Amino acid sequence: MPAVFALLQAARLPTADLISAQDLKVWLLEASDLLLGVIALERFGTDGLLRSLATASGSRRRGFGRELVARLEKDAQTDGIERLVLLTQTAEPFFRNLGYEVIDRRHVSEALRQSAEFRSLCPASAVCMSKAIHP
Ligand SMILES: CC(C)(COP(=O)(O)OP(=O)(O)OC[C@H]1O[C@@H](n2cnc3c(N)ncnc32)[C@H](O)[C@@H]1OP(=O)(O)O)[C@@H](O)C(=O)NCCC(=O)NCCS
Repeated sequence: MPAVFALLQAARLPTADLISAQDLKVWLLEASDLLLGVIALERFGTDGLLRSLATASGSRRRGFGRELVARLEKDAQTDGIERLVLLTQTAEPFFRNLGYEVIDRRHVSEALRQSAEFRSLCPASAVCMSKAIHP
């Protein structure tokens, strides 16, 4: 966990609610004991909040970010999640390439809007994006 926190903090992503978040899954990409990337999913019924995606600064643009998103999408689909939602300040083009579309955050479920990321951790200027993943 210290390495995960350090990676997220270096990427300027929120960590304040990582321990307290309910129904959270975290995937790690490691090589030779080094943490190269992390991604997490917070579940709200059939919606999932894709969050905490970061790759180590020396390991970017090598396909690791895409690989982490693909793995999360596959596992989320298997778990019955139908739609992924995220907030981002810096990676809109990255997610657009992966099929995510910008949506108005008012179109997100009430439960998801009550998450710490939506309520307080991500600034109102963060872009909200979503992707349907049901088969
Ligand atoms: C966003 C982030 C996870 C991308 O990770 P990455 O390992 O560099 O991504 P990949 O190497 O898999 O890139 C996949 C594609 O997206 C492109 N890409 C990567 N980062 C990009 C960005 N910020 N803007 C536009 N395109 C980007 C890559 O060039 C690549 O395209 P290609 O296949 O045509 O060459 C990484 O830059 C990061 O950790 N950023 C800081 C934290 C952050 O913003 N997280 C997202 C908020 S949830």
